[in-house]
Amino acid sequence: MDANTAADARAREIEQRMTDDERFSLLVSAMGQIPGFAPDRDPRIPEGTPMSAGYTPGVARLGIPALRMSDASMGVTNPGYVNREGDTATAFPASILLGASFNPKLARAGGRALALEARSRGFNVQLAGGINLARDPRNGRNFEYFSEDPYLSAVMCSEQINGIQGEGVISTIKHYTLNCNEVNRHWLDAVIDPAAHRESDLLAFEIAIERSQPGSVMSGYNKINGAYASGNHHLLNGVLKETWGYQGWVMSDWGATAEWEYALHGLDQESGLQLDRTMRGASPFVEPLREAYEMGKLPKERLSDMVRRILRSIFAVGIDAWDPSSTLDINAAAHHAIALEQARQGIVLLRNDGTLPLKGIKRLAVIGGHAATGVPSGTGSATVVPQGGYAAVIDIGGAGPMGQARKLFLLPSSPLAELRRLMPGTAIEFDPGINPAEAALLAKRCDAAVVFGIRVEGEGFDFPDLSLPWGQDAVIEAVADVNAATIVVLETGNPVAIPWLDRVRAVLQAWYPGQAGGQAIAEVLAGQVNPSGRLPVTFPTGLAQTPRPDLPGLGTPWGTPTTIHYNEGAEIGYRWFAKTGERPLFPFGHGLGYTSFDYSDLTTITDGDTITAIFTVINTGERAGADVPQLYLTEAVGDKRLRLLGFQRLELAPGESGTVKLIVDPRLFSRYQGKAWRIESGIHRMVLGRSSGDPVLTAEVILPERTFGR
Ligand code: BGC
Repeated sequence: MDANTAADARAREIEQRMTDDERFSLLVSAMGQIPGFAPDRDPRIPEGTPMSAGYTPGVARLGIPALRMSDASMGVTNPGYVNREGDTATAFPASILLGASFNPKLARAGGRALALEARSRGFNVQLAGGINLARDPRNGRNFEYFSEDPYLSAVMCSEQINGIQGEGVISTIKHYTLNCNEVNRHWLDAVIDPAAHRESDLLAFEIAIERSQPGSVMSGYNKINGAYASGNHHLLNGVLKETWGYQGWVMSDWGATAEWEYALHGLDQESGLQLDRTMRGASPFVEPLREAYEMGKLPKERLSDMVRRILRSIFAVGIDAWDPSSTLDINAAAHHAIALEQARQGIVLLRNDGTLPLKGIKRLAVIGGHAATGVPSGTGSATVVPQGGYAAVIDIGGAGPMGQARKLFLLPSSPLAELRRLMPGTAIEFDPGINPAEAALLAKRCDAAVVFGIRVEGEGFDFPDLSLPWGQDAVIEAVADVNAATIVVLETGNPVAIPWLDRVRAVLQAWYPGQAGGQAIAEVLAGQVNPSGRLPVTFPTGLAQTPRPDLPGLGTPWGTPTTIHYNEGAEIGYRWFAKTGERPLFPFGHGLGYTSFDYSDLTTITDGDTITAIFTVINTGERAGADVPQLYLTEAVGDKRLRLLGFQRLELAPGESGTVKLIVDPRLFSRYQGKAWRIESGIHRMVLGRSSGDPVLTAEVILPERTFGR
């Protein structure tokens, strides 16, 4: 019997031995005590238990452990839970930075470290694996997700989940699905063509779930085509469970269970019951679900199925195989090193005229972005208190329940201090960048100036535009006016507008780089590290180029019913630009380095089922570095459409070459039509490029007609 069959059998056997009270108690999770959200201890949670986002009691007599759930994808969070004072963790870089590394191995290493840190605190369910696609550069949560591309997102997310579950901790992929904007998220109806949905956001979930079998799926707050995600019969019972055969359990997002009937539509567990009580006066999965069962409205078989799904994931991942009270030593230095390596590989050099890496600089100005203190992180449920605590926290606030969590969190890795360490021969002075004229005074008497541009982005908020707040653009321009060697480092969770692009010499996109971020930024600027990140999202010149220059709901009071038509369908990001013919500021996949690469000998073959591409990459420059060649579909039987088909990150010494073989998932060059994937017979054209906008070699294959999958 393989592990999954054994888990199924055990779940069936144990479920039969449970009482109804035990069954129902598994279907709800309560939040740990936390001021502002859940001030009182829920009686389900034993006194003194170090708590986090969720707790579901176990059944000791049957060997079922309590579920202890913690956020999220970038580390074990602790936004102020009672009993966890002083509990800090490794703050890894934002998922979007990990997406920019195009390095699945780093995602797995980070997932493994994250799971060990969860385990060391007794947490056995990590609410990790954010995979919503970055459809809109205003979305406050894009930093928690990997990219705008379904395949890249799925590859990275599944490796993170494999890393987590490989250490015996259940991973929760989220937020199923189309939770792609935060504006009025609890009242938001995300409207999309169902076939385009299968080719985009659903495809990301489908591939990630196949590759990693996450123990649970979290349904989002929003509606999709009129029905709430947590009670969406078509998406939960239909696509996820029936079509894809998903065996794990579906938990709602926190406070997203509106009715007991969601159980009939595919929801298996209510999360954050205190929030449902606050918002709705009652928890639908406590009394109402029980009453529905007593009255025969909830069939016994469905109740058993809900329970079996939870048990199956417990046994398949093996969270019952370790003792949550046992201690586990964490190698904090090793985890910090993983965070550092992720930051090194995910920082993207957007522009460079040769000014970087910095050399021969006698006097350097470092300006703005709190660079003397640390690096910013995103806000909301995913914010991690870093090892050793924050360097500083500044309240921001805002409407809605997440306003209290919206802060400028500075992680203790100061780019200024790191630059001083790496460039001992350079006199480095700092200006806070609060006044353009003052910043210019320093910049004027320096050989070069590095200006930092930051934003606070996070859960519960969409940005109204692409600008840098607090007058930072004016500071950059004032510095560029007086210093001909101005370099800008952006620390944001999304693409921003870069109106001063032609006036500066280099731009680095450092995202939210985590607790080792200052070091990684300094190493890239000073040249110890060759930048090798590639954009996982397109940088538009402005919102006018995006599918929705005006975002519905923006500016309305929190709680206003809002409908967003995702009319771009599957043509997200770079695909949208290919369709409209517009030129972005920086294309998806773009990223410069301090060396150069060439591609040759592209051969593509097909066995009828899929396409295989083989090619050679050579480092033609003078220093070692990593490259990420990317294969795209450009045309399928006359239908011009751009699709990332595959990529491979490889490290090469100067003059060294490597052979790459990519085997393409056929869904990436198919269309979802009717109820299946369909390949048209005829010529399929491809390019191998340095980015979605920089083709180097072309190829084509003739494919036979084929219908497959469901
Ligand atoms: C977020 C989830 C998170 C949950 C638990 C919600 O507000 O949307 O991503 O896992 O809270 O903290």
